[in-house]
Amino acid sequence: MSSSSDAEMKDTPKIQPAEGKLGILIPGMGAVTTTFIAGVEAIKLGMAKPIGSLTQLNTIRLGKRTDNNSPKIKDFVPLASLEDLEFGGWDIFDQNCYEAALHAGVLDKHLVESLRSPLEKIKPMSAVFDNDYVKRINGPNLKPKGSKMDHAEALMDDIRSFKARTGSSRLAMIWCGSTEVFHRPQAVHHDIASFEAGLTKSDPEISPSQIYAYAALKMGVPYANGAPHLTVDAPALMEMARERCIPIAGKDFKTGQTFMKTLVAPGLKSRMLGVSGWFSTNILGNRDGEVLDDPGSFKSKEESKLSALEQILQPELYPELYGDIHHKVRIEYYKPRGDAKEGWDNIDIFGWLGYPMQIKINFLCRDSILAAPLVLDIMLFLDLAQRTGMKGVQEWLSFFFKAPMTAPGLYPEHDIFIQLMKLKNTLRWMKGQNLITHLGLEYYD
Ligand SMILES: NC(=O)c1ccc[n+]([C@@H]2O[C@H](COP(=O)([O-])OP(=O)(O)OC[C@H]3O[C@@H](n4cnc5c(N)ncnc54)[C@H](O)[C@@H]3O)[C@@H](O)[C@H]2O)c1
Repeated sequence: MSSSSDAEMKDTPKIQPAEGKLGILIPGMGAVTTTFIAGVEAIKLGMAKPIGSLTQLNTIRLGKRTDNNSPKIKDFVPLASLEDLEFGGWDIFDQNCYEAALHAGVLDKHLVESLRSPLEKIKPMSAVFDNDYVKRINGPNLKPKGSKMDHAEALMDDIRSFKARTGSSRLAMIWCGSTEVFHRPQAVHHDIASFEAGLTKSDPEISPSQIYAYAALKMGVPYANGAPHLTVDAPALMEMARERCIPIAGKDFKTGQTFMKTLVAPGLKSRMLGVSGWFSTNILGNRDGEVLDDPGSFKSKEESKLSALEQILQPELYPELYGDIHHKVRIEYYKPRGDAKEGWDNIDIFGWLGYPMQIKINFLCRDSILAAPLVLDIMLFLDLAQRTGMKGVQEWLSFFFKAPMTAPGLYPEHDIFIQLMKLKNTLRWMKGQNLITHLGLEYYD
């Protein structure tokens, strides 16, 4: 039976209204975070449009094509409005959001200046940081020394005071901090009891991002991971999310080169064209690039970037087309480029009778400009998921991620068009609308 039939059989949930303010908490207030917050402030002032945001601009078709009924998503499901958002977060640097936005250098100085007043008010809380997990950077704004459990409790205090200070009725958290080094789940991640014992003993296998995630889940706050490292995709934290009825999502924002890959690869596969090689390289010069210059952090990114192509092409089903593909991904830190990344893809493909062809993609993108609307959409949807009573991994949010989280044992769906269909069908299901299968035989009866 198809997954849409399964969903159809589930009762329509009751969605709690989006009353009051939604507080968005962000560990890591660098380029992505400041571009996101500045953007929301600019949109609220009517200075810009929410380009790139599905929740703000996309529509959803309801019923038959002949019904001509396609409301905006934000008018169809009850989402928090931009006016009701409050922002807070943590960083190892103590610059406020205005200073951090200028430092990141993504946005035009005049624009940042005109948003100075709301941005200046957002000051990062002191961070939980560990140089073993993020190398190459150091900052002064750190929590006093203590056990990992002490740090988790200090973060919970921060969450409580942020909620009281802003008068938020609901919260959601998203990691926009640097990429941590590559780790696999260990015994300490196995279940909640081992994890909590590990926090008390300051087990070296528990990363700072996991301490933030634990604090969020303990406080009933949905958590998303915008970076590729291990965080809530460990059994203990997944169990906690399910037990406490909290939605989680991840990981690694799907922007730039991998976004392109998930557009092009499904197209080649749909026409049964072969791929013998895919070489991707890019240069970027922001702080993210500096951290990714460390081999441990790059390994987290590489794993996340490599997995998408393999899952889309399914070499085990199509060995003659994709069984011998050479896939290579490189990221080079090159300071002059700042946030204005440039990516090159060389794709070696073959067609009828095995004749070879090549595709070259040169994407001059702006990393944080592509990521900022995803932060908004993920936060609004995670809050919606919580008000809908959904818990644990939110696979319907795969659309936003390079390495989508799934239930254990289930392979992730990377094809962006399948992901979008799944997302919209989930919204239809939430509202008791018929799912759209695109069968369409009724038009020809
Ligand atoms: N921009 C994109 O398109 C994109 C796409 C996918 C993933 N990402 C990921 O998003 C994250 C943010 O990217 P960015 O360009 O804003 O990077 P950035 O370097 O500008 O910002 C990250 C910030 O996190 C802070 N930080 C690091 N460890 C911390 C901790 N333990 N607690 C609190 N703060 C901490 C750093 O001081 C820095 O200010 C990175 O992990 C990046 O890999 C970005």
